[in-house]
Amino acid sequence: GIAFVDGAYLPLAEARVSPLDRGFLFGDGAYEVIPVYSRRPFRIDEHIARLAATLAAMRIDNPHPAAEWKAIVAELVARNPWEDQSVYLQVTRGADTRRNHAFPGPQVRPTVFLMSEPLPAPDAGQLARGVAAVSAADIRWLRCDLKTVSMLANCLLRQHAIDHGCAETVLFRDGFLTEGAASSIFVVRDGVLRVPPKSHLMLPGITYDVVLELARAHGLHHVVGEVLEAEVRAADELWMTSSTKEVLPITTLDGCPVGSGSPGPVARQMHGWYQDFKR
Ligand code: PDD
Repeated sequence: GIAFVDGAYLPLAEARVSPLDRGFLFGDGAYEVIPVYSRRPFRIDEHIARLAATLAAMRIDNPHPAAEWKAIVAELVARNPWEDQSVYLQVTRGADTRRNHAFPGPQVRPTVFLMSEPLPAPDAGQLARGVAAVSAADIRWLRCDLKTVSMLANCLLRQHAIDHGCAETVLFRDGFLTEGAASSIFVVRDGVLRVPPKSHLMLPGITYDVVLELARAHGLHHVVGEVLEAEVRAADELWMTSSTKEVLPITTLDGCPVGSGSPGPVARQMHGWYQDFKR
């Protein structure tokens, strides 16, 4: 595929950044993953706004106004061969001349990196049967609202799922649901859709917002509020949502069936609404 590094488009295999880049040394950067359907980025304004919010909280100068970001993404999409793509966008604090935890001076500019990958359609078998999940304590820090490339805890937690033959790890903090290792988690109980409120303990998911908008538009009863671990374990339906997974039913949690053990009717409905909406 074709990538973008600091102003230039080039084959990904030829892209280079310095080993002194603070993304490499400190995980000191922000990122976004933007789905592209039929060559049209989905919810790009929201992704660019979330990037700006993460950069502001990290005190990294945003190297581009929104219109420029959109032009770069459009050019990258045009230069890559796939109709449906997953665009990865990263901004780090840049590369100083030596390793130093403290911020470099203003002469060091942020490093901008984008790449694109083909975005496969949701897996039909996974949608039909649902996926398995395990649970774990949410060991992440207290700024999970920031989409940073400091991803060690997320990587450990996702690998925990893989080691257990599962697709995702559902995270609990102090007896409450937060989210998944790389997804937002929704619960359905007695026909009501439930999801934790946005806070510093979870990423403000773009798909999370789309799901709630669709619930509102279609009159699906939904409640945004704290969800107890016990409520997750007693759920009729459990879903994971993200820009790349869309809406995917979780049908076992820690080896126990969720509800009937098959994808539920509300998940099917939401998945259908999402498919219509994203095109
Ligand atoms: N991850 N929570 C976490 C911790 C995530 O990493 C993600 C997405 C989400 C869902 O956010 P959104 O709906 O905006 O994609 C929630 C991306 C896809 C990734 O890291 O690949």
